[in-house]
Amino acid sequence: MDSLDIDKVMEELQKSLKPYKNTSREFQRIPDSGMDSNGILDTLKKYSTEENRQWKAGRVSGAVYHGGDDLLNFLDMVYHVYSQSNPLHPDVWPSLTKFETEIVSMCAKIMNGNESVRGVVSSGGTESILLAMKAYRDYYRKKGITEPEVILPLSAHAAFLKACDYFCMKPVFVDLDENYAADIEKVKSAITKNTVAIVGSMPNFPYGTFDPVKEMSEIARDHGIGMHVDACLGGFIIPWAEKAGYPLPPFDFRLEGVTSISMDTHKYGFAPKGTSVVLYRNSELFQNQLYATGTWKGGIYFTPTMAGSRPGYPIVAAWAVMLLMGSSGYLKSSKSILDTGKYIIERVKKIPELRLMGKPLWVVALTSDTINPYSLMAEMGKKGWMLSGLASPPAFHMALTMRQTEPGVKEAYVRDLEESVKLMKTGESNASGLAPVYGMASAMPKEAVDLFLTNIVEWLYS
Ligand SMILES: Cc1ncc(COP(=O)(O)O)c(C=O)c1O
Repeated sequence: MDSLDIDKVMEELQKSLKPYKNTSREFQRIPDSGMDSNGILDTLKKYSTEENRQWKAGRVSGAVYHGGDDLLNFLDMVYHVYSQSNPLHPDVWPSLTKFETEIVSMCAKIMNGNESVRGVVSSGGTESILLAMKAYRDYYRKKGITEPEVILPLSAHAAFLKACDYFCMKPVFVDLDENYAADIEKVKSAITKNTVAIVGSMPNFPYGTFDPVKEMSEIARDHGIGMHVDACLGGFIIPWAEKAGYPLPPFDFRLEGVTSISMDTHKYGFAPKGTSVVLYRNSELFQNQLYATGTWKGGIYFTPTMAGSRPGYPIVAAWAVMLLMGSSGYLKSSKSILDTGKYIIERVKKIPELRLMGKPLWVVALTSDTINPYSLMAEMGKKGWMLSGLASPPAFHMALTMRQTEPGVKEAYVRDLEESVKLMKTGESNASGLAPVYGMASAMPKEAVDLFLTNIVEWLYS
């Protein structure tokens, strides 16, 4: 990699990630005297009006899953009444325990679990996954497995890698088949005496494709190991997909081998950011994620999740949104997102330069054998689309949300794709954006990419 590449990459990163550096008033130190609240609010409104523009227009992949005005106004009112709450003090706010256990119970029913199912509300998909992996590690340690391995299809979310990193577990990767789903034969042959869990996604983040969870769960059951289903993305869509006209095979607690499930209230559950649910088939496994100590000088201490103090508001809001939506609301939202996916999938199949990756429904990944996908993504960026870049092979995806179900958005997406492809073919495209970053990362060896990205994160917070 030459220094010119780095300079260009840093320049692009600066533009997209630190646009306010040297262009707006900065506070490196606390002001000597307190400022006027209206002034502060005006400043916040200025930033957020600008930053909200793109997702409000449906131009952003994932990120804001509902974003409708009525829902946002409702959430503002919920915040107003519960802003100070903290579930670390269940005696001060017993209603939070009620809300949290009811969310878990509602989610367990959505996942066809029975009364034995246990779980908690965590801060997000990553934490749900971390907690589940820790539970498997500790549960199987008691059974004598001291060097635990987790079987991960290459499409499993990075949170599983993070869990392996944090909890000293070994990720055992398995390849994907031609449809970008876990290759079941490879899963079988990856099992060892140290395997504690198999992971399947419904769907996975990169391609929005669905792993053969039924077959995976049978392997898990036959070997007496865990099977975690990552339904962070699909947990509030797939249960309604069949009624919406898009049937998928069962993936939940109806399958005997499925022992835990993560599902994100803060994605297609439409709660504000800060909640996800992790469910376990039984309390034996669940107990291994909990922490409690009675020997601390500070007295009795227990926490169900990673955090100590937790904001109560996201839990209250998740509960309130689930009541507001009801099953009929989720059927409606699922149907409109799935119909939007169907339209886009059918249209992109007709663009010969593009290749749809696997058989997705609403997270639609595209690559190409004839044009550079990262440059295409950058060209789309010039037209206002903020898509997610994928690696190995180079590709990008659009995770459809309620924002893209608004009139005209899906048509504009396809039209802009067609136009961008044309521009690239005629050599008229001069987009850059983050394309050089992806290009550079895809050309580097794994260790170098990890180090490069770690340095970028440090730069971001410097
Ligand atoms: C399939 C899947 N699992 C896990 C996660 C992690 O969720 P979070 O970003 O809420 O931590 C995501 C996030 O997009 C996801 O798509």
